Amino acid sequence: MPEPSEMPAHYGDLDSARNTWTEMLQSAVSERTHPFKKPVLATIDLEGKPKARIVILRGLDLETRSIRLHTDARSAKIDEIGRNPDVMLAFYDPVKEIQIQVSGIASVHQSDVYAEVAWKGAAPSSRRAYLAEIKPGTNLSAPASGLPADVEGKIPSEERLAGARSNFAAIQVVFEQVEWLFLSPNGNRRARFEWQPDRWVGTWLAP
Ligand SMILES: Cc1cc2nc3c(=O)[nH]c(=O)nc-3n(C[C@H](O)[C@H](O)[C@H](O)COP(=O)(O)O)c2cc1C
Repeated sequence: MPEPSEMPAHYGDLDSARNTWTEMLQSAVSERTHPFKKPVLATIDLEGKPKARIVILRGLDLETRSIRLHTDARSAKIDEIGRNPDVMLAFYDPVKEIQIQVSGIASVHQSDVYAEVAWKGAAPSSRRAYLAEIKPGTNLSAPASGLPADVEGKIPSEERLAGARSNFAAIQVVFEQVEWLFLSPNGNRRARFEWQPDRWVGTWLAP
């Protein structure tokens, strides 16, 4: 068991806990293998049931407390967010034993500056997915990627990728609450951080 002196500062200090999750989110935007790179996005589906799936963390803006995700504009989550913009993103780092649950309000961007900047910043290999000819989730009579044959296994040219733009959407999640959980053999720690209205206010919770 670690000695109390070996415990990270965030074990007993709310500001350190907040700084830690902020830095972890920031790092994950640029580090492909960061454990926070692939959170679970939960929405409420059109029948009122929960739906959860992995997405890639694409951007973080601490000024506006917003997270950017990319998706296919034809995917089910777009209609779900349109019906109910309340979403949660769950992140977990198995080495640091830290989970955060980020609650926010999502908005879908397809043809504005936000979407355009996101599209231009995405790698060609990522943009290729939006060339799929069939709406995600459609029943198929045989297994298939849905991509046109000429781009299967290839990185398409910029000219070819232009045809994918109309299927691309950026999702902006503005968050005002973050729950933090740190697992430790010395005793777990849990806290909630709320934006109120110009700073984060943290409260310890029973784990
Ligand atoms: C590692 C991984 C990363 C993924 N990244 C994304 C992503 O960034 N955006 C996305 O829309 N789907 C992503 N997916 C696919 C989703 O999990 C999901 O299957 C898809 O978006 C369809 O979801 P929906 O029908 O609920 O809208 C990813 C899946 C995995 C396994």
